[in-house]
Amino acid sequence: MTSASDEEWRLFIAIELPASLRRAISEHIDRLRQAVPEARASWTREENLHLTLKFLGNTRVKKVESVSKAVERTAQRVAPFEILVGGCGAFPPRGQPRVLWIGIDDRSGNLATAHGFLEEECAKVGLARESRPFHPHLTIARLRQLKGARELATAHEQCRFDSIAVGVNDLCLIRSELSSEGSRYTVIARHAFR
Ligand code: 2AM
Repeated sequence: MTSASDEEWRLFIAIELPASLRRAISEHIDRLRQAVPEARASWTREENLHLTLKFLGNTRVKKVESVSKAVERTAQRVAPFEILVGGCGAFPPRGQPRVLWIGIDDRSGNLATAHGFLEEECAKVGLARESRPFHPHLTIARLRQLKGARELATAHEQCRFDSIAVGVNDLCLIRSELSSEGSRYTVIARHAFR
């Protein structure tokens, strides 16, 4: 039996995206689904689109407060900035595509700076550093079946998704709950950039 003090939440730290951008991406998804109707993919729901800076996974609930403070200290070290969202790709670039993504142009460099500070502040509260390099992206689909996967990736890469500038004002600690109906994300703390 797990007691309340053992309870864990699946957490990640991310930037929320404006509704207008999520709508534009959702329309792009609708076009792809119509272009390759035979493909089976798990599409990111419009309300779930976000930009992840760090995935924490299962974390003790009693640690949430200190993690939130680490996010707050990170936000206080960076001024609000702008990113450009655009550019379509698939991962891996060769072989069977597994993820369709939309790219992030960190023109100011502040996103990478925020990511670096976040790793630093999270390490101070005992969280493991991410060993892989930071490649910011928005996942729009996960492809689990071969059928239509390459066609979908090609359609995605050829589709024009015009770059959209997005102002980034705050950083969120988000809880993810998995269920048969998909993931449900709840913002549990939001901290404004300085
Ligand atoms: P992804 O979109 O590239 O898969 C919530 O699951 C968020 O955390 C997603 O944005 C996901 O990124 C990210 N994430 C990073 N590493 C993860 C992992 N090992 N398991 C699940 N999600 C992960």
